[in-house]
Amino acid sequence: MKAVLQEPSGQMLSLHEPEIGEPERKAVLDCLDSGWVSSVGKYVDKFEALVAEAFQVKRAVAVSNGTVALQTCLTLSGVRPQDEVLVPALTFVATANAVIHAGGVPHFLDSEPSTLGIDVKKLGEHFRSIAKKSPDGWLNRKTGRRFGAIVAVHCFGHPCDLDGLSDFSRSTGLPLIEDAAEALGSLYQRKPVGGVGLVSCVSFNGNKTITTGGGGAILSNDENLATLAKYLTTTAKRPHRWEFFHDQVGYNFRMPNLNAALGCAQMEGLADRLNRKRDLAKAYQLAFSGSDFFDFFDEAAGSKSNYWLNAIKLKDRSRELRDYLLDSSIDFGYGVRPLWCLMHKLPMFADMPRSDLACAEDQEDRIINLPSSPQLINRLPGGEIRK
Ligand SMILES: Cc1ncc(COP(=O)(O)O)c(C=O)c1O
Repeated sequence: MKAVLQEPSGQMLSLHEPEIGEPERKAVLDCLDSGWVSSVGKYVDKFEALVAEAFQVKRAVAVSNGTVALQTCLTLSGVRPQDEVLVPALTFVATANAVIHAGGVPHFLDSEPSTLGIDVKKLGEHFRSIAKKSPDGWLNRKTGRRFGAIVAVHCFGHPCDLDGLSDFSRSTGLPLIEDAAEALGSLYQRKPVGGVGLVSCVSFNGNKTITTGGGGAILSNDENLATLAKYLTTTAKRPHRWEFFHDQVGYNFRMPNLNAALGCAQMEGLADRLNRKRDLAKAYQLAFSGSDFFDFFDEAAGSKSNYWLNAIKLKDRSRELRDYLLDSSIDFGYGVRPLWCLMHKLPMFADMPRSDLACAEDQEDRIINLPSSPQLINRLPGGEIRK
């Protein structure tokens, strides 16, 4: 286990390392020299425009991390205190945490094996079995609480079934939010994810495809919602040249200009980084093709994954073999890791409502993430792989 603690510059092959070069240094120094290091500045505006362009949405609002971006999305979608929010059990803890931060209660759903996203068929069956309509919206018959929204997660950057989830959202009236924290550059039916939901979030944490150190953004095609997002995340200050008047309790979720400067430089390298990540995924796919023990976790038909994290899946379910492989890979210096512990198994969420979670539990025993930094492509034999 010692190896896992090594720094990215050491022998350990990290799961996902940032790539910082001269453009990043130049932009950050320029920002430092300008004196505008904090919550406003030209880099914040530029970064928001670049992010909106990458996701092909009307507006992006830069914030301090993906978790607060999702919390804000939930509030903007009208989630009220004690509302149940439908989320997959198979996700990073931030998805469920954000629901609690927004005052809601996570209600866990099962995933399907081809994308690891919410299983829409199972969702429909589960919802029909527990939901009843009231003048105030859909209620959970068992808990009496209202359903507030549904959050789709694009796991490891693989787009989930957005058509199915949009249909569910339309037929129930529950707003669809996309947690696209991991999915910058992923396409669903040729269009970037993040623009289908009413509002979406993305993360620019250090382990993501591009980073601002820490950071995130709220995405929307609705100008009014985006303006409200900016206002709520910047202390709910009424715009004025010199007056400081705040007309509700807002949040200081702003992304500092310094982080945005780093982000602008990173965005310049996005296309190249996505190409190299694809090449790396192809190399893994080739390496594991024909294996008796593993399947490479590939993108679904009709989707283009950003392969944020590559993954392999044990053909036969075995927690023991998974754990043995994790231990021995780490001993050899490979920064592999298992799927996140499923949300309903975490102590703070153990009593939360949920559907049957058989598929998520099955995946948990099979999946192993592999080192996925784009710069790894240069470390393969010969420095190149077949395209
Ligand atoms: C699925 C998912 N949602 C939300 C987040 C939260 O993003 P952040 O770490 O920037 O708060 C992450 C981050 O890693 C994530 O993977």
